Amino acid sequence: TPGLPPSDCWDRLWLPLRPRRISGLGVCVLKLWFPSLCSHFSVNACLMPVCQLHGAAVTTVEGIGSTKTRLHPVQERIAKAHGSQCGFCTPGMVMSIYTLLRNKPQPTMEEIRETLGGNLCRCTGYRPIIDGYRTFCEVISSFISGFLHAVGESLEPFRTETSGKEKLLPLDPTQELIFPPELIRMAELEERATQTFRGERMTWISPISLDELLQLKSQHPQAPVVMGNTNLGLDIKFKGVVHPIIISGFRVRELFEVTEKPEGVCIGAGSSLSTVRSVLEKCVCSLPAEHTQTLAALLEQLSHVAGEQIRNVATLGGNVASAYPNSDLNPVLAAGNADHLCVIPEGKREVPLDKDFFVGFGKTVLKPDEIVLSVFIPVSRKGEVVRAFRHAPRKENALATVNAGLRVWFEEGSNVVKEMSVYYGGVGPCTVSAERTVQQVIGRPWNEATLSDAYRALVDEVTLGASAPGGKVMFRRSLTLSLLFRFYLHVLQHLKDTVRPPSVTCRRFSDADSDVPSGQSEQDPVGRAVQHQAALSHATGEAVYCDDFPRTQGELFLSVVTSARAHARITHIDVSRALSMPGVVDVFTADDIPGKKFRSFTGIDEEILAQGEVTCVGQMVCAVVADTKPHAKLASAAVKVHYEDLPDRIFTVEVAVEKRSFFLPQREIQRGDVTKAFQEADHIYEEIRLGGQEHFYMETQSMLVIPLGEEKEMKVYASTQHPTMVQEAVAETLGIPSSRVSCHVKRIGGAFGGKLSKTSILASITALAAWRSERPVRCVLDRGEDMLITGARHPVLGKYKVGFMSDGRITAADVRYYANAGHTPDDSVLVIEKILLHMDNAYNILNLRGQSAACKTNLPSNTAFRGFGVPQTPWLHCGCASSCLTKNLYKETSLTHYKMEFDPEVLLRCWEECKERSELDRRRLDVARFNQQNRWKKRGIALIPLKYGVGFAEGFLNQAAALVHIYKDGSVLVSHGGTEMGQGIHTKVQQVASRELDVPLSMIHISETSTSSVPNTCPSAASIGTDVNGMAVKDACQTLYKSLEPIRKQDPNGTWQSWVQLFGSNTSFIKWGKNKRHDLYMDWVKQEGRPYAYFTYSACCSEVELDCLTGEYRTVRTDLVADIGRSINPAIDIGQIEGAFMQGLGLYTMEELKFSPSGVLYTRGPGQYKIPAVCDVPLQFNVYLLSGSHNPHAIYSSKGVGEPTVFLGCSVFFALKEAVAAARSDAGLSGPFTLHSPATPERACIACGTRFTQMIPETETAQPWALELP
Ligand SMILES: Cc1cc2nc3c(=O)[nH]c(=O)nc-3n(C[C@H](O)[C@H](O)[C@H](O)COP(=O)(O)OP(=O)(O)OC[C@H]3O[C@@H](n4cnc5c(N)ncnc54)[C@H](O)[C@@H]3O)c2cc1C
Ligand code: FES
Repeated sequence: TPGLPPSDCWDRLWLPLRPRRISGLGVCVLKLWFPSLCSHFSVNACLMPVCQLHGAAVTTVEGIGSTKTRLHPVQERIAKAHGSQCGFCTPGMVMSIYTLLRNKPQPTMEEIRETLGGNLCRCTGYRPIIDGYRTFCEVISSFISGFLHAVGESLEPFRTETSGKEKLLPLDPTQELIFPPELIRMAELEERATQTFRGERMTWISPISLDELLQLKSQHPQAPVVMGNTNLGLDIKFKGVVHPIIISGFRVRELFEVTEKPEGVCIGAGSSLSTVRSVLEKCVCSLPAEHTQTLAALLEQLSHVAGEQIRNVATLGGNVASAYPNSDLNPVLAAGNADHLCVIPEGKREVPLDKDFFVGFGKTVLKPDEIVLSVFIPVSRKGEVVRAFRHAPRKENALATVNAGLRVWFEEGSNVVKEMSVYYGGVGPCTVSAERTVQQVIGRPWNEATLSDAYRALVDEVTLGASAPGGKVMFRRSLTLSLLFRFYLHVLQHLKDTVRPPSVTCRRFSDADSDVPSGQSEQDPVGRAVQHQAALSHATGEAVYCDDFPRTQGELFLSVVTSARAHARITHIDVSRALSMPGVVDVFTADDIPGKKFRSFTGIDEEILAQGEVTCVGQMVCAVVADTKPHAKLASAAVKVHYEDLPDRIFTVEVAVEKRSFFLPQREIQRGDVTKAFQEADHIYEEIRLGGQEHFYMETQSMLVIPLGEEKEMKVYASTQHPTMVQEAVAETLGIPSSRVSCHVKRIGGAFGGKLSKTSILASITALAAWRSERPVRCVLDRGEDMLITGARHPVLGKYKVGFMSDGRITAADVRYYANAGHTPDDSVLVIEKILLHMDNAYNILNLRGQSAACKTNLPSNTAFRGFGVPQTPWLHCGCASSCLTKNLYKETSLTHYKMEFDPEVLLRCWEECKERSELDRRRLDVARFNQQNRWKKRGIALIPLKYGVGFAEGFLNQAAALVHIYKDGSVLVSHGGTEMGQGIHTKVQQVASRELDVPLSMIHISETSTSSVPNTCPSAASIGTDVNGMAVKDACQTLYKSLEPIRKQDPNGTWQSWVQLFGSNTSFIKWGKNKRHDLYMDWVKQEGRPYAYFTYSACCSEVELDCLTGEYRTVRTDLVADIGRSINPAIDIGQIEGAFMQGLGLYTMEELKFSPSGVLYTRGPGQYKIPAVCDVPLQFNVYLLSGSHNPHAIYSSKGVGEPTVFLGCSVFFALKEAVAAARSDAGLSGPFTLHSPATPERACIACGTRFTQMIPETETAQPWALELP
C-alpha cells in the first residue's frame, strides 16, 4: 500500500484483526482457505505476511458469528462452559476449534486437545475450555458428567446452562460459510504471472515457476525465499532485520510435489509440516512395519513441533534450510540417511543431510542461490531401528532443549551392530553428529557393556562450555546420555520384538456447580453459576480492550527508550537522528516533566524517567512520539544514550546482603522463645530459592491519553487495576488537579497484580506526550518490552532452621527471607511484610521467628503479583516430612504469631476432606508400590494446606463506593470501583444488584470503571474486589429499593418498570453506596495486629509422575478443596481457583526468568518463557468447594477467591520432591536434599542423581550464561 510505513505494510493483516500482534500465544488465530486447497487451516495472523494471502479467503472470529446476528456454536460453547475470563485469548481458541470443525465436524477429544496445543491462556487453567469443546465430540456421556462439580459433602449435582447438549446451538456444517465465489472467479480469470508488491523498504516478489524462482534467486542471491515465514518473520518483526527483496516460493507448484517410491518418499520442500505429517501417516499405515522406522520417528517428532497454527505454515524446506540448532527434524532426517534435492540455475544436485550439511549457527552448505526442492526420506531396511527423542521445557509448543535422532542397523539375525548414526540438536550451534561415540558401538553386540563405552565416549565428544548460550550445561549434557540410554532400552525391546505403540491416556476433568439454598427465588442469581457477563463478547471478538479503541484524528504513538546498562551514569542522550526520522513529533526526557518527576511507593521515590543515572537494564530513559507505532519504534532505536559505567552492580540477594543493600524498613516478628526451643530439639538448616514469575497477562500494558483541549482536561483509557492511581499519577506528573484527569477502564486482558504501579508510571509518560503535543497518544508495549520493563514476582531466598521432636512435632522455626526487589521499591516492603504474616501458613509453631528484607539490586523492579508474597512462603514443607504435617496444624481457636485470633475448624475440614477425596492413604501405598517397580519413573504425592488472610492491612484500602442509576425504562446502570480483568467482578456485581433490586440480570448494565463516576477507588487486588465493591453496590441498591417501597405498596400489582416510571418522574433515581471499612492494621513495633478481615482456607493434594532420565513430569491427579464461604458464583470461583492453581503450577515447576551476567533479561517472550499450556493440566483435576462455610465479614457470606490457590501449586512441587527422593534412594543417595523452585526438569533431573548426571564432569569456573537468582 503506497504511503503505508513498511512494517505496517508487512503486518497489514492485523489491522482488521484488532492489534493483538503477539507471536506464539495463539491469540491472533484466523482461518485460511485457498481455492486450490480443499482443507481449511488455522494460522497465527502475527506471522502471516499479507502478500502471501492473495486470493485466499480469510475468516476471523468476527466473521463466524456475532451477538447481533447469530452466534456460532463454537462461540456459544466456550461462553457457556465458563471458558473465558479476561477473554483476550478467547478469539484464538474459537478460531482454532472452528477451523478443526470445518475440516472435521465430529473430532475426537485428542484432536481438540491437540488443536488447542498452540493456544495459551493465562486465566482459566484450560479445563473449562476443553469441557466446552468436548461437546463437539461424539461421546456425549463424558460431556454431561463433565459439568458436575462436587460441592462439599453434599455432592448435589447441579446442571449449569450447558449441561444438556439439547440446550446448545447445534453444529450444522451445511450452514457454514462457503468459499467466496468472487475469489473463485478471480482465481479462474487471473493470469498466472509473477506478482510484485512494493513497500517503502521492501519488495515482495512471488513467481509461479521454479525456473523463475531460480532466476530471481540468482539475480538476488541475498534475498531470502520465504515460505511459512515462521523463521524469517520472527527476525523481521522482533530483531528489526530488513530484507529489501523477498522472494516467495509459495506459488511455485514444484515445491509442493510429493512422490512415493518403493525406496522412500520424496516430499516437496514447500510442504507444510502438517502436510508432511499427513503424508507420513499415510506411508506408515500402508508400508510394512520394517520399512517405516524413519518415517514413524519423524512422525513422532512432528507431533511435538510447535502448535498446529505454526505447523500449518512452517515448511519442511524452511526447517532444513534454517538449520536451527534445535530443529527437531534435522537430527532424525540426518540419522535416517535423508537426502535432499537442491537446485541451482545450472541444474540439480543431491545433497546428503549428514554431518557435513550443517556448518554453523543457521548455516548449511547450501550456496546463496541454491534452493531446496525436496527432501527424500528413505524407507528403513530390515533390521534397522530408528527413533527420535526430544526434551523441551514444556511438552508442547516449545523448542526442544535437546533432541536426538538415532539409528542402528543390525547384522541379520544377530544383535551385532552393522551401522549406527546418532545426531543431537540443542548441544551446539548446529545439529551435531556423535561419530566417535558411534565407533564404540559398531561391530559390537547391543548390550550394557557396549553402551557403557558409548556413554563414556559421548561425554568426551559432545561437550558444552560453561557459558554456552542457553545455559543448563550439565543438564543438556546429561540429556545426551539419557536419550542414548532410552534408545538403548527401546532397541533392546525391539530386539525382543515387544515394541508396542505408546498408549494414549484420556483426560478426566470435573466441573462447575452451584450453592443455592432451597427456597431461593428462581430469579435471584446469587449463588448460581451465571455465565461471565462478557463471555459472548469475548467469544465473538466484540469485547473491546484498550488498544481496540479506534484511532482518533491526529493520534500519535509513544515508544520508550530503555537503559542498556545495569548501573551507569548517563553522559549524553543524542536524539538528533531520531528527531529527523519520518513521522517523529517529539522526544522527551525527565527534564521535560512539568510536575513531579517521580512516584512515591511506600514512602520511597521512583523516577518516572531516569535522571542522570540508570540502575537497571530496561529502566525507562526517554520517550519518542511519532505518527505511527513503527515510526516511533524505529526512532526510539535511533536514540543514542551514552553511558559511563558505575561500579558495584548488584544482581543477587547474596551480594545485596553482603553489601547491605536494602529498601527499608526490614521486618521482624517473633513469638515464644526460639533460642531456648532450639536447645531442646533436633534441627535442620536448609535454604530454598524461589524464582520470580512474569505476569504474562495476554494484553500487554496499554493506554490511550486524549487531551480534551480545554481547561487542561485529560481522558485516560488504560488497562489498569487501579484507575485512581493512574489518575493521581497523571495529575501529579503534569502538575494539574486530579479533577482534570479521568481514567476509564472498560476491561483488562489479564493483570494479576502487574497493572498497578507500573501502569501508572507508563500512563504518566503517555500523558506527558499528549500534554506536550496536544494530540491523543497511545502506548502499547510489545511483549518483549513489557517483560523487560515491568518487573515480575519477587524471587526469594529463604534460609530456615526448623527444630522438631522425634514424633515430628515442630517446636521452633527461624526463617529469614530475602526478596530480590530490583532497583526501585515499588510494593516490595509490603510484599516482605505479607511474607512474614503468612510464614506460619496453617501450622501452630509456638516458637517462631521470621525476618524479611527487600534487597535493592540492579535488576528491573519487581512488583505485586497474585498472592503478593504468600506463594513465596512454602518453606516448612521443605523441612518437614509430609506425613508429619497433620501434627503441626492449628487445631483449636488460636492466636497467630501476630496475635490475631481465629478458629481453624474450617481449615481442618478442608484438610480432612481433601485427604478423603484424594484417597491419600491408599494412593500413598500405590505410589510406594509404583516406585518399587520402576527404576526410571518415580511418583510422588503431597497434600498441602493453606490459611490465607484476605484484605489490605491498611484500612483505607478496603473501602469502596458505587453509583447506581435507574432509568425510567427500568434499566439499571451500575458503576463501581472494581475493574474487570477476568475475575468476573462485573458479573458478581450484577448478581448482587439483581438480588437487591429484585430485577433480572438482563436489566443491569456495567459499562466501565471510571474515576469520574466513582472517585478514590481502591485497587482491584488482594482478592477483595467483590467483597468491597459488591458491598457498596448492595448498599446503594438497598437504599434505592427502600425508596420504592411506598410506590410498591401503592401499586402492589405493578411491575418494576411501572414503579420506576412513577417514581422517576418525580425524583432522581441515582444512589451512592459504600461498604463498611474494616479497621485493619498491623503494628510492626508491637508485632501484633489484625491485618486481615478474615481467613480463607484450602487444601490440595497432587500426584506426579517423574521421568528421572529427563526430569519431565506429569501431574497425574490433583484434588483441591477450597473454602470460599458461600459462593456468589461457583462457576466463576472455580475458574479462579483452577486458573490460580495452574499459575502456581507454572511458578513452582516451569516458569523461569533468566538474566545475563550483566543483568539483561533473556526471557522476553513466549519462545523463551514458558507458561503452562493445555498439556500441563493435571490428567485428573477435581475442585471441591467446601460446604457449610460462612463468613460474616463479606457480602452474602462469600470469601475472596482470586489469589489464594496460587500457593497450592506447590503441592505439585512437593510431590515432585517426593518423586525425586525416591529416585535418589535408588541411586544410593539418602538424607535431606535441596530442590529449588521452580523445580524445572533440569533441576529435578539433576537432583535425581542418576548415573548419567553423575557422569558429567563439573564445568570449568567460567562465567555461566545466566545469573543464578534470586
Ligand atoms: C512458535 C514457533 C515454534 C516452533 N517450534 C518448533 C519446534 O518445536 N521444533 C522445530 O523443529 N521447529 C520449530 N519451529 C521452527 C519452525 O519449524 C521453522 O521456523 C520452520 O520450519 C521454517 O519454515 P518456514 O517455511 O516458516 O521458513 P521461512 O521463515 O519462510 O524461511 C526460513 C529460512 O529458510 C529459507 N528457506 C525456506 N525454504 C527454503 C527452500 N525451499 N530452499 C532454500 N531456503 C529456504 C529462507 O530463505 C529463510 O532463510 C518453531 C517456530 C515457531 C515460530
Ligand atoms: S481468558 Fe484466557 S488469557 Fe484471559
